[in-house]
Amino acid sequence: MSEVKTVGIVGSGVIGAGWAARCLARGYNVIATDPAPGAETVMASKIANAWPALIKIGWAQTPEPPAFSFTTDLEEVGRTADFVQENAPDRLDIKQKIFVDLDRVSRPDVILASSSSGLLPTDIQDACMHPERMIIGHPFNPSYLLPLCEVVGGEKTSQEAKERAGEFYKSLGMHVLQVRKEVDGYLSDRLQEAIWREILHMVKDGVATTQELDEAIVYGPGLRWALMGVNMTFTLAGGEAGMRHMLEHFGPALELPWTHLKAPELTEELIDRMVEGTTEQAKGRTIQEWEQLRDDCLIGLMQTLRQFDIASGKTLNDDEATKLTVNTERWESGCTVAAPLEQYSGTVLPGWVDYNGHMNEAAYLEACGWAADKLFRYVGIDEAYRTAGKSVFTVETHINYLKEVGVGEPIRITVQLLGVDDKRFHFFHQMYHGQTDDLLCTAEQLLVHVDLNASRACPFEPQVKQALDAVLAAHAHMETPANVGRQMQVKN
Ligand SMILES: NC(=O)c1ccc[n+]([C@@H]2O[C@H](COP(=O)([O-])OP(=O)(O)OC[C@H]3O[C@@H](n4cnc5c(N)ncnc54)[C@H](O)[C@@H]3O)[C@@H](O)[C@H]2O)c1
Repeated sequence: MSEVKTVGIVGSGVIGAGWAARCLARGYNVIATDPAPGAETVMASKIANAWPALIKIGWAQTPEPPAFSFTTDLEEVGRTADFVQENAPDRLDIKQKIFVDLDRVSRPDVILASSSSGLLPTDIQDACMHPERMIIGHPFNPSYLLPLCEVVGGEKTSQEAKERAGEFYKSLGMHVLQVRKEVDGYLSDRLQEAIWREILHMVKDGVATTQELDEAIVYGPGLRWALMGVNMTFTLAGGEAGMRHMLEHFGPALELPWTHLKAPELTEELIDRMVEGTTEQAKGRTIQEWEQLRDDCLIGLMQTLRQFDIASGKTLNDDEATKLTVNTERWESGCTVAAPLEQYSGTVLPGWVDYNGHMNEAAYLEACGWAADKLFRYVGIDEAYRTAGKSVFTVETHINYLKEVGVGEPIRITVQLLGVDDKRFHFFHQMYHGQTDDLLCTAEQLLVHVDLNASRACPFEPQVKQALDAVLAAHAHMETPANVGRQMQVKN
């Protein structure tokens, strides 16, 4: 597959606009189509609403969303895009037609994906000439934030297409779940629907209100599900004997059964009860206000889970690690060196803040450490270099704390090289607020190159020295920052 640069979005409603926002934040171009009157304007406003969350999570690099292309011609999307994500209404006849039209004009190596919530890919791909590249890539609302993407292939989908699609979704910071068997509703929606059916039964039978049923989830099981799902949660609930004990204990109840499996009839009365219940729960707040609250909570939750490297927090950590390793730019002879180098961007993590809610002093250094790590990789000091027995150690650091920054706020760090000799290099970090551009801190560091086996300083390998010299030459014209070489003192 040629590299994906432009993503085609077909259907720009809730999910399509969410995909578009996510793709734009992750650096892709977007071309979209939707037949609804005014769809382009609505899509732009949906992307604008999602953008603050994408800044907070550390993906969006610009204060405003970049421009996207919009066309009323579906075939133009098919001809232009390197990957297409379809998000039209969940009706087989609509999706079949869209896929036949896209399939006719798209390059055969372009993946055609559908966001369908439960239709079978075998049915959607049926009339395509190149059905092997058609997959389901099922996201979760808000599709610009939630990590899960279920990848489902049909009878004619190739394994290669499923894998390539998975790689693309990973590049969007997602957790890819390759679904083994094509089943209605896939995995998550099948589980969600089971609960929803029970909710409808209980509201219909007057057992509980919509509010009470939501409380029954959010104060108990829901909190646990975000960490370890149902099966591991029940394993822990079974004590030392784990799942075996749980099944023995609750086996009789499972046979009763407690649940009503078949959905109740959706009478007008039941629909009214569901709508009235949820309207009361909304307490007069608009959907947009609820969406913003939901996004802030989701980001807070995911950032908290990062500290424990679990579930959606692990997805964020893995994504961050990819950013630092796989996608790291490397110096090459003759390349243009930025002055200064932009070495790190991210958000202030929950584990980085003190009791005032501000980034603590050690965390400023940790963030600058990530920036330094990128500089090392840029000049060729990476895992392979260390495995070969050479590395760099910090011998001196001087930090100036200039402005506080709170949890979830975006930061970016630049690095200016000040000096290099055979064994040492001297550089200067400047940390800025990602939105306001305020200077938050500066950190000056001196590092020495070491032979790890001999435990002593030694000259850089020639290729690293060459890269460092090139960076130094590119930074030579820059002004020496005021804080360089500064000493602490109280003037009396
Ligand atoms: N809403 C969710 O929670 C959710 C979650 C996961 C997946 N999905 C799936 O995503 C898809 C879109 O759902 P949504 O919630 O965004 O719906 P939506 O109603 O918000 O958006 C659908 C969009 O498709 C457009 N459309 C209609 N006919 C079209 C056509 N022929 N070609 C292109 N666009 C067309 C509509 O104008 C509308 O803007 C569905 O397949 C749905 O099952 C939805």
